[in-house]
Parts: sequence; structure tokens; C-alpha cells
Amino acid sequence: MPTQQLDQHGCLKHFLTIEGLPRHLLHSIMDQADVLLGRDDQIINKAPLLSGKTVIQIFFEDSTRTRTTFEIAAKNLSANVVNFNVRTSSTSKGEHLLDTLRNLEAMHADLFVVRHPQSGAAHFIAGQVKPHIAVVNAGDGRHAHPTQAMLDMLTIRRHKGDRFPELRVAIVGDILHSRVARSQIHALNILGAAEVRVVAPKTLLPVHVEKLGVHAFNNMEEALQDVDVVMMLRLQKERMEAALLPSERAFYTAYGLTRARLALAKPDAIVMHPGPINRGVEIASDVADGPQSVILHQVSYGVAVRMAVLGLLGKKEKRGSDAC
Ligand code: NCD
Repeated sequence: MPTQQLDQHGCLKHFLTIEGLPRHLLHSIMDQADVLLGRDDQIINKAPLLSGKTVIQIFFEDSTRTRTTFEIAAKNLSANVVNFNVRTSSTSKGEHLLDTLRNLEAMHADLFVVRHPQSGAAHFIAGQVKPHIAVVNAGDGRHAHPTQAMLDMLTIRRHKGDRFPELRVAIVGDILHSRVARSQIHALNILGAAEVRVVAPKTLLPVHVEKLGVHAFNNMEEALQDVDVVMMLRLQKERMEAALLPSERAFYTAYGLTRARLALAKPDAIVMHPGPINRGVEIASDVADGPQSVILHQVSYGVAVRMAVLGLLGKKEKRGSDAC
């Protein structure tokens, strides 16, 4: 990776990808999020950690959950939050990305939360900003979505306990275009999950996907046998260049998560989805709203995980060799 996200003490400088992060750092983010959530999920919503700091959210792609939960997280930490709307800004008048960044820096930003349709955009920005600014990748193309993966890991840990080495996880759907799947796979492997299965038609699996440390399945029934966690994904139609699927209907028939299929997983298996969900395309409504679904917990935990990440990054200039 061109931009190092860890400093010489092994502390987070930027949060760009899960790939290559040490296991203890992933646990430390989850531990801090756990403290913020408490036992009853009542998130601590006033902490002074980012008081006097300015967080600018730069979103070149639409978002509901990610942008809103980052905003709540930053406000909970007492930061000033600015939502830089690319559609109504001079970027849409052709201003170069670097000029936009220089202007935002001149407004005394401390943290940039960036979403961009191009893979590698967050790394590029992290390589350009002034040293005091931290960059958080809120999703770049099909490459990475590290805070989503961390809130997913926290959701698993809070429902299944800290026993990743015993867990079998199936990630189902459009693996090819999914930054979420890539970040989840890295996180699950770093945390030592017993098995990570990816499930999709051949056209929606990257070539040599096994190199990521997963088992590939084209058959949904086989893939769901005895899994502890089912992670569904949306079909990323905006990233599909050609007709990779005969139809949504055909996809649902072969890969849709129905109650009958979920019954093949362990009886206490949990069902996850990063959202936005497409009912009747990748998941049946009664499964999405059913007792095994933890989809809305994922959203709530997203606030705590993003507070934990912003908090770690916001502390960076005060760090000595012992603090991380
Ligand atoms: C995901 C994203 O944007 O990468 N959603 C999210 O962040 N909650 C997944 C998706 O768009 O399907």
C-alpha cells in the first residue's frame, strides 16, 4: 500500500484498509466500541475527545448509514462536523480534487472522512494531505470499507462471543464488486475465523478469490451448511459493466436468503447485511425482519465503532511511544 496507515509506534495514522492491520488493533477498536456501548447498547453520546477538532465528510458517492453514523459519531465526540456535498460544490464545476483538498485544509480540518467511487482514492488523498490530518476511508470503489468491516466484526463478537476461531462465516452475493466483502474477508482472517466461505455465481466472484483465504462456493445450499454467520451483500449494479446476471429473479432463485435456506445454517446462526437491503433480490423480507437478523444492530454498532476509530485518530498528535 503506498500510504502507510500506521506510524512508527504502530498507532493508526489513517484508517484506509483492514489489510495488514495487527489483530490486537482490531480487538482494541472493538474493545473501545464495547465500552462506548455498555451492556444495554445505550451509546455514550457526550465525550470531549475531539473537542475543538473539525471533521469534514467528503462524499463523492451516495450514502445513508455510513455518512450519518460518522456524523453522529463525530458529534458524540464533540467535534465540529461539516458535510461537504460534492454535488453542490465546485468539484461539480470541474475543480481538481487536489485544489478542493487544499481549500478544505485551509479551513483547518483535522479529519477527512472520504467516500469515492474509485478504488485507491482514500490512499491517494492520505498521501496528499498535511501531516496533522487523518483520513478515514468510508468506502473506495470495490477496494475497501474498513469501518463497515469493523462494525460487522463487533456485531459478530457481541452475538457470538470472542470465539472467532470456532466460527464459520458465509459471505453471499456480489463479491466481485464489493468493498465490504474484501474488508470483511481480511478482518475475519486476521481474527482467525475457522472458515470464510464466499458464495456467488462464477460471474460475481473475482478470479483466484481463494488467494484471499476463502473457500469459494457456487451452490448456496452447500455453502450454508453449518455456518454460524450469514453475511448477505447487495448486487452492486452501479459497478457492473456488463450483464453479469441473467436477471434479479434468477439471482434470487439461486442465491436469495429464504427461511428454508437459512434452516441449513446452524440453528443459532445470525443474518447480517451492510445495507441498503433489496428485499426479494438477495434476501426475503421475513428473514431480514426475522429473529436471526442482526441487521439493525449493525447500524447501531456502526456509531460506536466509528467513535472508536475517530477517537484513535484524533489522539494522534498527543501520542508518546506508549499511547495508541
Ligand atoms: C455498502 C457500501 O456503500 O459499500 N453500504 C454501506 O456502507 N452501508 C454496501 C452497499 O452499498 O451495498
